[in-house]
Amino acid sequence: MIQSLTGMQDIVGDEAKKYNYVVNSAKEVLENYDFDFLKMPMLEKTELFIRSVGGSSDIVNKEMYRFIDKGENDVCLRPEGTAGVARYFVQNKLDRQPQKFKFYYHGSMFRYERPQKGRYREFNQFGCESFGEESVYEDYAIIEMASAILDKLDISYKLELNSLGCKECRPKYIESLKEFLRDKKDKLCEDCNRRLEQNPLRVLDCKVQSCQAEYEDAPKITDNLCESCDTDFRKLKELLDNNSINYEVNKKLVRGLDYYNKTIFEFISDKIGAQGTVIGGGRYDGLISYLDGKETPAVGFGMGVERAMLLTSLPSTQNCGYHLGAMDEEALSSIISLTKSVRVSHKATLEYKPKKLKALLKGADKANAKYCVVIGENELKEGKVWLKDLVTKDESTPTIDEFLNSIK
Ligand code: HAM
Repeated sequence: MIQSLTGMQDIVGDEAKKYNYVVNSAKEVLENYDFDFLKMPMLEKTELFIRSVGGSSDIVNKEMYRFIDKGENDVCLRPEGTAGVARYFVQNKLDRQPQKFKFYYHGSMFRYERPQKGRYREFNQFGCESFGEESVYEDYAIIEMASAILDKLDISYKLELNSLGCKECRPKYIESLKEFLRDKKDKLCEDCNRRLEQNPLRVLDCKVQSCQAEYEDAPKITDNLCESCDTDFRKLKELLDNNSINYEVNKKLVRGLDYYNKTIFEFISDKIGAQGTVIGGGRYDGLISYLDGKETPAVGFGMGVERAMLLTSLPSTQNCGYHLGAMDEEALSSIISLTKSVRVSHKATLEYKPKKLKALLKGADKANAKYCVVIGENELKEGKVWLKDLVTKDESTPTIDEFLNSIK
């Protein structure tokens, strides 16, 4: 028997309904904020992720599904969505246009990680990216949107916030962090020793406790911001305060992708174990120029759909739609034609074999239908249907035309 690959799953039944519920709820929020849907390829050139997510990140270093295709191209399955949207933005010269662009996307992402609850090798992200707006109001709007999605799904969270500074203040900070770390080398784990040279910021979110103890007194980026980053960070906190979005500043929050600057944030749940980050995002004003575009401010987030599914419940379903059936062979072709007309505007299920009324009503119950529509010998003769409202229990026998008019 051939089984699915480790860390990859089929989503079916109520889980599939939940998947649609999460994605559709997020879509509704994003469309209210005037974002457009963008559907992107799942396969991209590997270089795209090396240049954007970063050559020293775990995603690029350890987790890519990477191969050489038949045309000798070095390609990989996308591990995240931001890089693809940025590639689309530059490829279509949107960086040369004065207006702002806002996109949302959803679909499979691939990371060769160690699977556990909430962490899979193929998983789905719902993400959004806003290009061209440098105002911190947009950082706020993006966070507001993320919180609106979680509120809609009735998911409680803790919002953690940090600022990573910009190209003015970050290099100076990194020098002072390196200085601080230099005489601690022997006490740090292997990963931190590697990061120390390649990407010193990443040491701060090391999961090893002994490393964390060493970083207690490390200089923090938020205490070393330039005036413009500091003003924006204050403004962002003020906007969140004014609009009752609770947050905590986590001075050690850095995120695992290299393209961020200034605002970064994570929405975390304590109800799903170690993999608790449901939404992560931030500003990335440098990315478009790393991909040879004109420097363009940008900010966005990505939500893990499976993690949101673990935290939300489907709204209780109400009876809806029609269940149709015939009581004898002769009435079958009429009920098939009638079902075609009903399905133009309503959900309908159909019994392919003639059955007794009791069995048809049982089928309607099973289908969770609101109405049961039956054609038997008498109805066929008179051009009528037998109709029962399964919620109010009302019964009637309208003509086929009356029935179709009533459901238009
Ligand atoms: P990320 O934090 O790597 O950010 O992923 C975003 C979300 O995807 C995570 O918070 C988590 O919910 C989900 N996720 C990540 N890895 C897995 C996994 N292996 N299994 C299940 N869920 C997972 C990004 O990808 C950025 N592109 C987000 C962004 C958009 N930043 C700006 N714009």
